[in-house]
Amino acid sequence: MVKVAVVTGGGQGIGEGIVKQLASDGFSVAVADLNKDNATKVAESVGNGSKGYYVDISNHDDMFKLVDDVVKDFGKLDVFVNNAGIAQIAAIVDANPEEITKIFNINVNGTIYGVQAAAQQFKKQGKGGKIINACSIAGHQAVELLGIYSATKFAVRGITQAAAKELAKDKITVNAYCPGIVLTPMWDQIDAAMAKIYDRPLGETKQEYIDSIALGRGEEPADVANLVSFLADEKSNYITGQSILVDGGINYV
Ligand SMILES: NC(=O)c1ccc[n+]([C@@H]2O[C@H](COP(=O)([O-])OP(=O)(O)OC[C@H]3O[C@@H](n4cnc5c(N)ncnc54)[C@H](O)[C@@H]3O)[C@@H](O)[C@H]2O)c1
Repeated sequence: MVKVAVVTGGGQGIGEGIVKQLASDGFSVAVADLNKDNATKVAESVGNGSKGYYVDISNHDDMFKLVDDVVKDFGKLDVFVNNAGIAQIAAIVDANPEEITKIFNINVNGTIYGVQAAAQQFKKQGKGGKIINACSIAGHQAVELLGIYSATKFAVRGITQAAAKELAKDKITVNAYCPGIVLTPMWDQIDAAMAKIYDRPLGETKQEYIDSIALGRGEEPADVANLVSFLADEKSNYITGQSILVDGGINYV
């Protein structure tokens, strides 16, 4: 029977790369995003009966409805990838309350709701399941101007560890992938914000970060998707609670 995966934030960037990889691994993929048009385009491009859905991951009811809709459409759920997230560039001392609340609602609360909705369905099915969260190098090491973002990704590591322990008895594994500098629209946004703050040309910050990568190139969504493919496969059945770096060997700035 064809396996079914949900990928949040699957409409572009890393999420799109994960959707493509999981589809080529044979999954039917429920591509869920705030931007439903993008989600639908990506789903249609990969085939396997994949389908686009609207979701706002920061909304608890949306996440549970997403899982219900996917199960209505595909009959079951095997893998849930909590990929969607946002970045924010601000010094800790300058971060404003609305922005702090927004990023925590999406990156932290959204991840928790995804774990809850997926675990509820996996428990109903009684055969285990795999939850895979988006962490980051920023979840291992904080750098200036990405402190609030880092705080959310340290939180994702904590959620991953605790949920893995809580759900192990139900044969549900919970792991996270921690990308480095992935060449997606998110990094264009980070680079533009840093250019403004440091009064430097566009592209310079991104290049400085890329220069610190041992393997000598920026990361592609496919590099991340290869790890997610393993975490979604039975080959990773004995791994849980881990937040695994996939960053080309970054020498932290
Ligand atoms: N790009 C990087 O270098 C990098 C590095 C480490 C970790 N990450 C993490 O990987 C994940 C994906 O990053 P990306 O670079 O592909 O980002 P991106 O901005 O290119 O794409 C994010 C996608 O998520 C969707 N999204 C945003 N908020 C949402 C919400 N509330 N509900 C549903 N969908 C929402 C967007 O519409 C978009 O399609 C994020 O969690 C990010 O923190 C990215």
